Amino acid sequence: MADQTFSVVCICGSLRKASYNRMVMNALPGLAPAGMTLTEAPRFAEFPLYNADVEAIGIPPSVQRLAEAIRAADGVIFNTPEYNFSIPGGLKNAIDWVSRVPNQPFAGKPIAIQSATNGPLGGGRMQYDLRRAMQFLDAVTLGKPEIFIGNCSQKIDAKTGEITDEGTKKFIGQQLAAFAKFIERHGGKH
Ligand SMILES: Cc1cc2nc3c(=O)[nH]c(=O)nc-3n(C[C@H](O)[C@H](O)[C@H](O)COP(=O)(O)O)c2cc1C
Repeated sequence: MADQTFSVVCICGSLRKASYNRMVMNALPGLAPAGMTLTEAPRFAEFPLYNADVEAIGIPPSVQRLAEAIRAADGVIFNTPEYNFSIPGGLKNAIDWVSRVPNQPFAGKPIAIQSATNGPLGGGRMQYDLRRAMQFLDAVTLGKPEIFIGNCSQKIDAKTGEITDEGTKKFIGQQLAAFAKFIERHGGKH
């Protein structure tokens, strides 16, 4: 894998400025294996609510931009909290929009999921739902290692944005290394 390079886009499921999940996302380049570049995907904050009548007028440019970023990447990482045991509404709306782009870009795309929450389970229930949505869209989702950062305010310094828990950093590094191999096997760009 030494001279392989992988471009990964990260989609943050939280819109708030002080998001723990965005802090995790921002820490990824320092934990990634050689050759893996990570960038934030275009944000979905301005997407309209999905409505087939709006779609009939045309897919909004902001949706096209996210779809193109996914299409151009070798893999996608979701960094997202869990809301009410499931996918945050804004993120689900973004996935629904992107799924409507012709030749939708999640098909065949390697996906990894990381979630941070203040609850003890770290977003585990949301991950089931996100995996199901990705399954329907014919993405290929990394099974293990799984990243559930529970009680995240005790593991991430809200002031500096740094992950302070060494175990968490180690698990994330292991997942990114596994994801690089997974991408190599599945070849995500198309
Ligand atoms: C509407 C809403 C629903 C939530 N539901 C859950 C939940 O089901 N499970 C959980 O662990 N945390 C839940 N939380 C707490 C979030 O995980 C916590 O606020 C987290 O810090 C949000 O992620 P962020 O810091 O990236 O914005 C919920 C928060 C909100 C605002």
